[in-house]
Amino acid sequence: MTGTQAKRGAWNSKLGFVLAASGSAIGLGNIVFFTSNAYQYGGGAFYLPYFVALFTLGIPVMILELGLGTLTGRSFPNALRQVGGRRAEMLGWWAIAAQFIITAYYVVIIAWAVSMMVGSLGSLFRPGVSAPFDPFREPATRPSAVTYFFHLVSTGWPLVALAAVWAINLFALRGGARTIEAMVRVFVPLMWVFMIGLIIRGLTLEGGLDGVLYLFTPAPEGIANAAVWRGAFAQMFFSLSLGLGVMTTYASYLPKKADQVANAFTISFLNCGFEYIAGVAIFALLFVFSLNPAGTTLSLSFFVVPQGIAAFPWGVRFFGFLFFLLVTAAGLTSSVSLIEGMVSAIIDKFGLSRGRALLVVSIPCALVSCLFVLPQIVDPGLAGNGTLGLTLLDLVDHWVFSYALITVGFVETLILGWVLGADKLRAAVNEHSRIPLGRWYEPFIRWGAPALLGVILVWSLAGEFTGETLYGGSTTPAGLKWLTVFIPLACLAGTVLVATILTRAAGKADEAPAGRGGAGGAAATLGAVALLVSGALLAPARAHAQDAPVIPARARVGEAVNLTLPGAASLTVTYRPNSSIARSVTLPVGSDGVVVWTPEQAGVVALAVDGGSSRNVSVRFAGIPWLGVLVLAAAGTILFGGAGYGLKRLFEGDDHAFPLDT
Ligand code: TRP
Repeated sequence: MTGTQAKRGAWNSKLGFVLAASGSAIGLGNIVFFTSNAYQYGGGAFYLPYFVALFTLGIPVMILELGLGTLTGRSFPNALRQVGGRRAEMLGWWAIAAQFIITAYYVVIIAWAVSMMVGSLGSLFRPGVSAPFDPFREPATRPSAVTYFFHLVSTGWPLVALAAVWAINLFALRGGARTIEAMVRVFVPLMWVFMIGLIIRGLTLEGGLDGVLYLFTPAPEGIANAAVWRGAFAQMFFSLSLGLGVMTTYASYLPKKADQVANAFTISFLNCGFEYIAGVAIFALLFVFSLNPAGTTLSLSFFVVPQGIAAFPWGVRFFGFLFFLLVTAAGLTSSVSLIEGMVSAIIDKFGLSRGRALLVVSIPCALVSCLFVLPQIVDPGLAGNGTLGLTLLDLVDHWVFSYALITVGFVETLILGWVLGADKLRAAVNEHSRIPLGRWYEPFIRWGAPALLGVILVWSLAGEFTGETLYGGSTTPAGLKWLTVFIPLACLAGTVLVATILTRAAGKADEAPAGRGGAGGAAATLGAVALLVSGALLAPARAHAQDAPVIPARARVGEAVNLTLPGAASLTVTYRPNSSIARSVTLPVGSDGVVVWTPEQAGVVALAVDGGSSRNVSVRFAGIPWLGVLVLAAAGTILFGGAGYGLKRLFEGDDHAFPLDT
């Protein structure tokens, strides 16, 4: 290790790095976005393409980003500069500019989770909250997370939570790698334990297992849908924190001899393993309580899950608190990595002290993040996003997150494949890798990865211009429609401008001062184990009846359900509502007011009488879906077996800890 390396900061141990990198990857995306994507794309249709994406795109690009970090020992823009000069550096700064925008609203989502967490102890789960927003979906006698949330975001409380979130981030970042390591040693194990507690609760409720099998049973007609593949590949890229150079920055704090193949496998499997159990926990709840995540991406975690928890026979506040604590912890370990990526880039280029660099990055970013908590109600009917902050967040998220990561990935694979040379990259990685990368890796980085990313990019972009308006055109309230054009243009112009300025600026590299040390600790894990045990001890319990008596809450494929709907003319059944592959069947009601419905397909199905508002029914499988059981078992074995194997290879050596040169 060189003296400079010591000055930039370095991980204390292999475990610290793996925790930090997996903590970066495991974030809101694993809980919020994965489950809502999986649901939208039809459950079982999603998982196989997603799994294919892990091996064909995720792991190879992860190896590339990690390899770039140890090869150069620099954060993203500076690493790219070493490889491809100024033009490559510009891509790096463009990624940092996008990261700035993403951080500004990522922390806001964490702040909402914090607010909901506090709310679970307060009035979130108090029944009797009236529901002015959608009286049908949530009868006034039950607590309504939707009502609670929209009320919450129209107050000043999220701003208070946001200040707390920034404070925690800065605290964790004060000493660079060393203090980040201290934080992840506590947060990352906690995240796992909490999620497992939630799984146990979900699976011990009747019908939960069918929900899980719904996620894992391949649905052929969905898999044949090309949009599902695009969604799965994009989700994988996002989930693994690729395409912003964060993994490069984190890897730059490793010694040169780090085994990046084992690291990439371990981090990716841990991330997707977490996503797997998040899927199990949340799909179980969806089925148990026949919930239907309508609307935006956030709705599954912020409305549907609390709605399910509210119907638990007991432990409502406890599990509500636990869930939002989990989301908060997962979000914080990712936001820390986002901010560190920017701070490290500034330190590497301009030689500022860590404290200064932190301020230079976080003061403007915190100010921008305040935009996304603006509580002004712009849409009282909630046809769109409710408040001004939510509207802005929705638009910015759509453009920056969907395009920045994939664009950077596309150009970065081209730069490493052709400018540095895929052969050089492979040789550099193989020098220290116990599992050598095969020859396939070179053509893959040159051709395969850019082709995959290019197709996703062009195809997504083409989709933007097929409608009459740009994204958000129908949900953004009148008077603010100009934002749908302004936001993408402003984001593009702003990031390109910042990237140009920072690339041109004269650097003063390699004079970064030393970081400060921090204490580690994992005592909190004990408390979490207690939580887990209490989760395990919960007796199986029945869900509260959710529906009016005429429509049962559950049905089974192939078993006829007799419904008496006096005076009604028709019953419309929508399989997989709110997905790109939804299918509706309308059944006429007989003159005696009776209609017989025989469910054709498992899933949460919406029933609407005379085309009015709908009610949900969970349709269970006819028998045991063996294919689903097989995918569930195989995916679990591969992910956790792979993570275990990766960890084993990683720790086989003698050097678990790498003390700093002093
Ligand atoms: N992977 C993170 C999540 O699942 C989100 C993310 C994407 C991210 N790219 C990143 C986080 C870069 C940190 C850095 O929530």
